[in-house]
Amino acid sequence: MAGNGIRIEGLKKRYGAGDTAVDALKGVDMQVAPGEVVGLIGPSGSGKSTLLKCLGAVIDPTAGRMQLGDDLIYDNDWKVRDLRALRRDKIGFVFQAPYLIPFLDVTDNVALLPMLAGVPNREARARALDLLTALDVQHRARAMPSQLSGGEQQRVAIARGLVNRPPVILADEPTAPLDSERALSVIRILNDMARRYDTAIIVVTHDEKIIPTFRRIYHIRDGLTHEEQGEGREIG
Ligand SMILES: Nc1ncnc2c1ncn2[C@@H]1O[C@H](COP(=O)(O)OP(=O)(O)O)[C@@H](O)[C@H]1O
Ligand SMILES: [Mg+2]
Repeated sequence: MAGNGIRIEGLKKRYGAGDTAVDALKGVDMQVAPGEVVGLIGPSGSGKSTLLKCLGAVIDPTAGRMQLGDDLIYDNDWKVRDLRALRRDKIGFVFQAPYLIPFLDVTDNVALLPMLAGVPNREARARALDLLTALDVQHRARAMPSQLSGGEQQRVAIARGLVNRPPVILADEPTAPLDSERALSVIRILNDMARRYDTAIIVVTHDEKIIPTFRRIYHIRDGLTHEEQGEGREIG
């Protein structure tokens, strides 16, 4: 199912046109194998969020190729008719801001996606609770989002990104509001997911606590990427 992981070739994104146009991505190449967690690092304004949004079919690239799993999804134009289904079934998003649904409790915020995908409610809730437990927020399972701290909300949002076991997970600064121990436990969970479900995962981060854990890192600067070995430090 996860097939080839993520493959990006010559990806370009221009915002706007004419004098005010911004070339945010200038020909990005990147590959993430199934089962791999890769770091994406770069200064503010270098194009990290733009890259994740293109890959997540949230915005339209300008040119290039993108492959997710076995599917060529973009080749100078979208090759998938239903982008909403692509986002729902193939991609788990973890954003900087949690965007929880305010009128659903924590468990249902996480269980909603599998329910929408046709998983029976009991199983969806059980799956949600497993992830909430792994992320150490199970004691907040019945709380409403407004009752949670920022760090708790973020951990719930991470559970929601993982719950449908998508072949691709895109995480934009997922550990920014978390303390060191919780940040590392998030990375441990992402690595477990990757191994267990052959998920290809990209983590955008500045977080010095987690950067040493990546085996491979892409640096992005001025809209271009280059690849580097990471330390691949074991998480104790
Ligand atoms: N919607 C937009 N319209 C115009 N320019 C944008 C838009 N979003 C991002 N940019 C520009 O594209 C460049 C890359 O931004 P972004 O991908 O958000 O960088 P990062 O996430 O690395 O901080 C920046 O110069 C930014 O100002
Ligand atoms: Mg950003």
